[in-house]
Amino acid sequence: MAKFDLIVIGAGPGGYVCAIRAAQLGMKVAVAEGRETLGGTCLNVGCIPSKALLHATHQLHEVHENFEKMGIMGAKPKVDWPRMLAYKDDVIGQNTKGIEFLFKKNKVTWLKGWATIPSAGKVQVGDETHEARNIVIASGSEAASLPGVEIDEKTVVTSTGALELEKLPKKMVVIGGGVIGLEMGSVYARLGAEVTVVEYLDRLIPGNDGEVAKTFQRILKKQGMDFILGAAVQAVTVKRGKASVGYTLRKDESEHVIEADCVLVATGRKPFTQGLGLDKLGVALTRRGQIATDAHYASSVKGIHAIGDVIEGPMLAHKAEDEGMAVAEILAGQAGHVNYGVIPGVIYTTPEVASVGETEETLKEAGRAYKVGKFSFMGNGRAKAVFLGEGFVKILADRETDRILGAHVIGPMAGDLIHEVCVAMEFGASAEDLARTCHAHPTFSEAMREAALACGDGAIHA
Ligand code: NAI
Repeated sequence: MAKFDLIVIGAGPGGYVCAIRAAQLGMKVAVAEGRETLGGTCLNVGCIPSKALLHATHQLHEVHENFEKMGIMGAKPKVDWPRMLAYKDDVIGQNTKGIEFLFKKNKVTWLKGWATIPSAGKVQVGDETHEARNIVIASGSEAASLPGVEIDEKTVVTSTGALELEKLPKKMVVIGGGVIGLEMGSVYARLGAEVTVVEYLDRLIPGNDGEVAKTFQRILKKQGMDFILGAAVQAVTVKRGKASVGYTLRKDESEHVIEADCVLVATGRKPFTQGLGLDKLGVALTRRGQIATDAHYASSVKGIHAIGDVIEGPMLAHKAEDEGMAVAEILAGQAGHVNYGVIPGVIYTTPEVASVGETEETLKEAGRAYKVGKFSFMGNGRAKAVFLGEGFVKILADRETDRILGAHVIGPMAGDLIHEVCVAMEFGASAEDLARTCHAHPTFSEAMREAALACGDGAIHA
């Protein structure tokens, strides 16, 4: 039996970051991970592989849509799907091996296998039981199921199956107009599939700024994706590799069926706690099955902590990473902390969508007086040069104090641009602070400054 200061369960972005930080702070650390490679959902079947496919298919889009416009002529390349998948797998391999290297460098032990917690202070992996002064559960999440829909990961797939389809679909139905549905849907639309998104609500990307959602839908429609909104999927049946998706339109209760050769179910994820033995331990759960934690990530059982997708909050790799660092610091006697008001959200389509902080909807609901500074990428020279002039930046600031409350971007590199507002918000900056900061020309970030200027006396290029 080996003794550790900390055993982390799960080597996703929450778990591996927690382990590395704890080791840096002098703890003897082990991580239990049952997958064959480190990195969890994010590196193996989530963020990283989907970004590889988004990148590859964006290049394809550029070749087909924009090369001739720039005077680059010649035969149009075709897709070799197995090779594209091999490229994606290579990207996964490079990243997961990177975590293995970081574990070695930081002397973090990898306990290979699925862990159970027989009692507080003990973690069993395979036949061996290890002692731990503290345990951090970072076991992540799995795709939520939908009644009437059976996943076979071939014809009816979750995001995992959607990353390794045997052949390219001609017709794809995506159930759920959230982040996964739109990212993966846009991959297959660019690869030539007819993609229809069926969404329960009357809008896409719930929780995001409404105006951004509308613009996003318009742009994706132009890229060839179709949308059926306000539609509740009832059942999916599969016959000889062909799927029929039955849905009811909520406005008139009418029933419809749409056919596809691939159905992606992207209706959310749920915490993954199976096999940990939480019941026996008496670890309290929330109504939604997450591990209930206090402000220090402590569960109801002493010595057992939890972070990431398995607890409350947005299911985002970077939120898990921040919690991983915070809990390691707390366990080391420091003041670890996560500012939940400044967690960016990004959708990696083209254009990208990014947001942080309040939306107009949440501010209206809270009755808070705010002002809006908006700037279109049409006024940004760099964006026009790369055919990405659609979209805009919207900065929300307190009407009285000018303090930045949130930002919403749809446009080129939005996922990177958002961070200057994140930093500004961490420092309690005003829109004027941002507007008075010199931004290099010509960059996409000038659009951020222009939106900040629009919160005051006005943008220059609007
Ligand atoms: P989501 O919560 O983003 O979207 C699910 C959508 O499905 C919602 O719009 C919902 O209204 C709709 N829906 C639910 N039931 C339905 C039904 N019966 N018929 C039609 N529509 C229905 O969930 P998603 O996209 O599955 O992603 C899961 C989690 O993974 C999210 O928390 C997301 O933030 C995270 N994620 C983040 C990424 C990123 O940061 N870029 C990438 C991929 C996932």
